[in-house]
Amino acid sequence: MPLFYGFMWMCLALAVPLGEASVLAEEGLLKDDTIANLLKDADEDLEPKKPQIQFNAHFSANPDEGCYLDPENDDCLQNCHYNTSAKTFIVIHGWTMSGLFESWLHKLVGALQQREHHANIIVVDWMSLAHQLYPDAVNNSKLVGKETAVLIDWLQEKGNMSLKNVHLIGYSLGAHVAGFAGNHVRGTLGRITGLDPAGPMFEDVEAHKRLSPDDAEFVDVLHTYTREALGVSIGIKMPIGHIDIYPNGGDYQPGCGLSDVLGALAYGMLLDIGDAVKCEHERSVHLFVDSLINKDKESFAFQCTDSNRFKKGICLSCRKNRCNAIGYNAKKSTSKRNSKMYLKTRAQMPYKVFHYQLKMHIFNYMFEQETTEPTFSVILVGTLNDSIPLPLNAPEQIGYNFTNTFLVYSEDEIGDLLTVKLKWEGTKQSWFNFWTSSYWFASKGNEKELHIRRIRVKSGETQQKFTFCLKDLHESRIAPGGELVFEKCRDGWEVKSHKRVNL
Ligand SMILES: *[C@@H]1O[C@H](CO)[C@@H](O)[C@H](O)[C@H]1NC(C)=O
Ligand SMILES: *[C@@H]1O[C@H](CO)[C@@H](O)[C@H](O)[C@H]1NC(C)=O
Ligand SMILES: *[C@@H]1O[C@H](CO)[C@@H](O)[C@H](O)[C@H]1NC(C)=O
Ligand SMILES: *[C@@H]1O[C@H](CO)[C@@H](O)[C@H](O)[C@H]1NC(C)=O
Ligand SMILES: *[C@@H]1O[C@H](CO)[C@@H](O)[C@H](O)[C@H]1NC(C)=O
Repeated sequence: MPLFYGFMWMCLALAVPLGEASVLAEEGLLKDDTIANLLKDADEDLEPKKPQIQFNAHFSANPDEGCYLDPENDDCLQNCHYNTSAKTFIVIHGWTMSGLFESWLHKLVGALQQREHHANIIVVDWMSLAHQLYPDAVNNSKLVGKETAVLIDWLQEKGNMSLKNVHLIGYSLGAHVAGFAGNHVRGTLGRITGLDPAGPMFEDVEAHKRLSPDDAEFVDVLHTYTREALGVSIGIKMPIGHIDIYPNGGDYQPGCGLSDVLGALAYGMLLDIGDAVKCEHERSVHLFVDSLINKDKESFAFQCTDSNRFKKGICLSCRKNRCNAIGYNAKKSTSKRNSKMYLKTRAQMPYKVFHYQLKMHIFNYMFEQETTEPTFSVILVGTLNDSIPLPLNAPEQIGYNFTNTFLVYSEDEIGDLLTVKLKWEGTKQSWFNFWTSSYWFASKGNEKELHIRRIRVKSGETQQKFTFCLKDLHESRIAPGGELVFEKCRDGWEVKSHKRVNL
């Protein structure tokens, strides 16, 4: 039997050599121990070495199934039912410590099948070359890229396959394999998606030594684990595609962080730091899977010069291709390269959230500067739902007598906004406190309070702008523990020249 397993790598599905084996058995040849032993010896000499790179066109959860494409055997195309007019996805794994296919690979292949029924899905199995010390796996990745290019050239030649229909999806080190393939292939590949491309030994190197925009007509990259430790980051930090998307800033993924891990430990789940790393690195794959299967919950990313500006809510524009769907639904925008885009996500699938930019002018009539920053939250009330209280995080200090911009995002769909409730977290001053503080402050004539008259809101997802005015026009004062209610009073934002009049 081992003899036949030896041939499994060829284009024939495993069932075929087994069929031959049963024919041999029927003819009684295998019943003879002598012949069986003879075959066994022959097997040891003749067994073709399993190639180190295989192209599995029928990847499935059952390891005994598969149909392997071999550029030296043209019959494979027919035998593997290759549909040359359909799309072709080539999925490439990365460096491995276990030497086993990980569950994400099955999820990704399943999601591609679900989304594109006729598509050809090829999994590049370079497990033995990837199950090495990391620097050796990096060296091997060039060879794997070249061999993948040979396969694609063969598909073009023998199968009349159009390169436009070819989409390579590489995870971690596999993203650079895809880049090398794109570099060596005859012509230009349609698309490469890099899922958290590996950082070590690729950060800051020249374009031809890593995945780059030159490797396909459209190169899109998801960066999910770019946090630096000991001078390296697992996922590459630099932008290396036409669009580079950094979900949650690319350095911390909700549901993965150390604090979440400790939380999980408290629930008795066994996780270690390695799992947290894997969770953040692998999140890129799950975001892509999400984009394939949850078509009605497309996540959008927004162009921004850096993560901090995005966190301030400055970058929620869709003008001139400044926003794009993420993952499979990303639209080609080849005019630019290395354009960094950001978004927030949920901790689980579906990952979509709804982004809002909030602008409010905060008046502080007191002479003294506030010593402690106020902590604000908002509840957004819409036609579909109310949000939970959403924090207004200010990456920098809140400016007084100044228009502050905040980014808020809701996991729940709110619909068209009707009301914004602004709350200053903290406890209301009790009578006693009020009396003592009034007494104490009497000389300074001071008490903690701010005034807000309007809130302007822009939805990232719909690009609509609204102005919200005080429900009670005479009460613009807010203090710790207090709340102000704003109702929609205008579509759009008033032009600047009107502003002064309205103050
Ligand atoms: C091959 O793919 C094309 C395009 O996706 C599709 O229309 C056709 O039905 C497929 N053929 C087979 C035999 O699946
Ligand atoms: C890199 O891989 C090639 C084969 O692709 C091999 O010949 C070479 O020795 C390797 N280099 C190192 C430094 O491992
Ligand atoms: C390849 O495609 C061209 C044009 O699309 C067609 O003329 C030719 O017959 C095709 N060849 C094969 C082998 O399908
Ligand atoms: C804000 O402006 C008011 C009046 O215009 C002024 O009295 C107050 O001192 C200013 N506050 C700060 C913090 O600059
Ligand atoms: C409304 O929002 C709450 C949380 O604020 C959520 O639990 C609920 O599922 C949402 N309902 C709908 C219909 O989206």
